[in-house]
Amino acid sequence: MFHNYQVFKFFILLILFIASSLIISISVNIAEASDVKKGEELFTQKGCGACHTIGKGKLSGPDLLGVTQRREEGWLKKWLKSPDTMVFTDPIAKEMLKEFMVPMPNVGLTDEQVNYLFEYLKNEDKKIKK
Ligand code: HEC
Repeated sequence: MFHNYQVFKFFILLILFIASSLIISISVNIAEASDVKKGEELFTQKGCGACHTIGKGKLSGPDLLGVTQRREEGWLKKWLKSPDTMVFTDPIAKEMLKEFMVPMPNVGLTDEQVNYLFEYLKNEDKKIKK
């Protein structure tokens, strides 16, 4: 009886161990697929990098390093959602258009995608303070 109980305990511990490793690996995966990561993926998928760098200078569009510090969150989210209309109505955007000559295209981002991109840009800006 006693021997069997030890075996039983061993298996329970083994199951608990496997279950907790599973939970840990699942939560690591969730952390990796965080908003910042999704934003980074969108930045590539949506072709933002064709016109923007983050910290490597101007292309057809402005360098986005520090953009979450020079613009307000609300302004940026509105911009990412509808640059094509804002460029003709918003004073900041009109100034930028004068410098860059090309209007940024609307790539049809959802509100969720706008948030991911914002989180990504904000995270990049954290790297400024060294
Ligand atoms: C075809 C080139 C092009 C693409 C593609 C593009 N942009 Fe732009 N972007 C611009 C230009 C040009 C401006 C400056 C305003 C203007 O002239 O329309 C700008 C402005 C911005 C600004 C404001 C910068 C500031 O200093 O206030 C942000 C933020 C931005 N773009 C993010 C993005 C993101 C994110 C994507 C991808 C979803 C993207 N852009 C795709 C050309 C582009």
